[in-house]
Amino acid sequence: MPEHRQALTPVPPWRRTDYCGALRAGDAGREVALWGWVATRRDHGSLIFIDLRDREGIIQLIFNPEHDAGAHAVAEAARAEYYLAVKGRVVRRSDGTVNAELPTGEVEVIVTAAEVLNPSQPPPFPLSGPDSAAEEVRLKYRYLDLRRPEMQRNLRQRHQALRGARAWLDANGFIEIETPILFRATPEGARDYLVPSRVNPGRFYALPQSPQLLKQILMVGGFDRYYQVARCFRDEDLRANRQPEFSQIDIEMTGPRPEDVHEMAEGMMAAIYQYAAGIELQRPFPRLRYEDAMERYGSDKPDLRFGLELTNLSAAFGGTQFKVFADALERGDAIYGLALPAANQLSRRELDDLAEDLKTRQSLGLAWVKISGDGWQGPIAKFLGADERARVVQAAGIAADGTLLMIAGPRGKARPAMGELRLKLGAKFALRNETALKFLWIVDFPLFDYSEEEKRLVSVNHPFTAPHPDDLGLLASAPLSARALAYDMVLNGQEMGGGSIRIHNAELQLRVFELLGIGRDEAIAKFGFLLDALGFGAPPHGGIAFGVDRIAMMVCGTDSLRDVMAFPKTQKAVDPMSGAPSEVDPRQLRELSIKVAL
Ligand code: AMO
Repeated sequence: MPEHRQALTPVPPWRRTDYCGALRAGDAGREVALWGWVATRRDHGSLIFIDLRDREGIIQLIFNPEHDAGAHAVAEAARAEYYLAVKGRVVRRSDGTVNAELPTGEVEVIVTAAEVLNPSQPPPFPLSGPDSAAEEVRLKYRYLDLRRPEMQRNLRQRHQALRGARAWLDANGFIEIETPILFRATPEGARDYLVPSRVNPGRFYALPQSPQLLKQILMVGGFDRYYQVARCFRDEDLRANRQPEFSQIDIEMTGPRPEDVHEMAEGMMAAIYQYAAGIELQRPFPRLRYEDAMERYGSDKPDLRFGLELTNLSAAFGGTQFKVFADALERGDAIYGLALPAANQLSRRELDDLAEDLKTRQSLGLAWVKISGDGWQGPIAKFLGADERARVVQAAGIAADGTLLMIAGPRGKARPAMGELRLKLGAKFALRNETALKFLWIVDFPLFDYSEEEKRLVSVNHPFTAPHPDDLGLLASAPLSARALAYDMVLNGQEMGGGSIRIHNAELQLRVFELLGIGRDEAIAKFGFLLDALGFGAPPHGGIAFGVDRIAMMVCGTDSLRDVMAFPKTQKAVDPMSGAPSEVDPRQLRELSIKVAL
């Protein structure tokens, strides 16, 4: 690599007057000083053209040996991603050379002085154009990936989204309060990340899965309206919309009804979209009961950008001669249908593939019939009589020709399976309105679910969620039928946020713990501090938390959290750039009284 005088000098030779990407026709005639990276370089013999890039975009530079031989020599030596400082004069491009695709395309800079502030290794992947590099490589050289215009745009839009949220919360009397990272486990359904305490050998902090308990305690502490952009840590299986470490806009209020939280959250979301995208959201968002969402969409985060609703065909198939369905109904299972219109047909092969997939992943069967002027076709058609056909056509809302897909099984399995199929087919047939923003609230969640694995009740939300006041009587008799005062905000099939009204009474909290299999002693050992706090005049309270990264993902229109986080982790929770997690010095382990047994 050639020597560059400036590379050892920690300050640029001149101050910047402008960002490269900010120059416009109105700047023609001005003398400017710029810094930036070499995006592209074209050597036309005596004339050298360099596109110089900074956070605002790129500007075309012209190096002519007749203007400054030294600057021209710099341009000759410069390569991709060299960091340059240049001075020059902004001029209008001649008519034929205007680049309408560049915001700076009407002008260029005739360079009169240039320095290489730092040379660069050849970048391992191109930084302009569509990203073609493998994600692992992009994350290893994240600083280069971050220079790409797309990442610059995403992180800026994320910043604007957070500004919108903060502005709205500040204007509505919410106070930002930080809570500790070194704390106790807060059960949000994932595994904890643990941090050993050196000064208390054998003891561990748990990184917060959310600030849930602390925000409740802030209400007891009199802060009335709290918010925080909080870092949360969850050791769980990662997907495109899940990271082990993520941020929440965490909110808690004293004394709200669920509708108050909804109204507040909608206001905040409207501010976010206003700041980050200049989009006016339609409010209020529609509400859908959990049970209806599951029944109609097979999901508690339904994507309402397209129809294709599920139908419950159990009644229509009552008394059927088709043994598989008859047996299912006999067991108390249900039959769900999805009617594809004639315009969206699946081949025999595609139907077989869908059935095979359903069988291997969920051990559920997929039945289908094709309905047309020629009658009903498909393996099960011959078992279905005329009356039954008429009932099914009506129940499934089949107006004309089409394909009816059917899944029989326990409702807890059949509905989500059909919901997944609905999403798959919605994507396959491009049924989604890709520009729509379909917000909605899911309300009336059940308080508990039954875990087959653990053979006990588990919280659908978290254990601090208040039961619906009308269902308190069910806690003893039919806890699985009790509703919670919990709600989720959903956008285009993604859960953006979730929250609830909380239990503010220690006795009720103990009862709920007990139903979850957490006895009084264990509850006091783990959550005694919360129970104590509730005993000191804790006001009723409730709130919600939003995934900042998910909001950013939706605002930026990407489908991966990694596109909106500066330094995300891979699917295996690794940071390829730094190599974290890494082994540590044996001395550190000794200090922490830890032995590693692999
Ligand atoms: P919940 O667990 O639903 O609720 O989380 C709230 C929101 O945080 C986002 N989120 C995630 N984002 C990225 N990666 C993850 N691994 C991840 N997990 C969750 C989602 C989700 O809607 N304490 C409660 C909130 C409350 O009751 O007020 C809580 O944490 O967008």
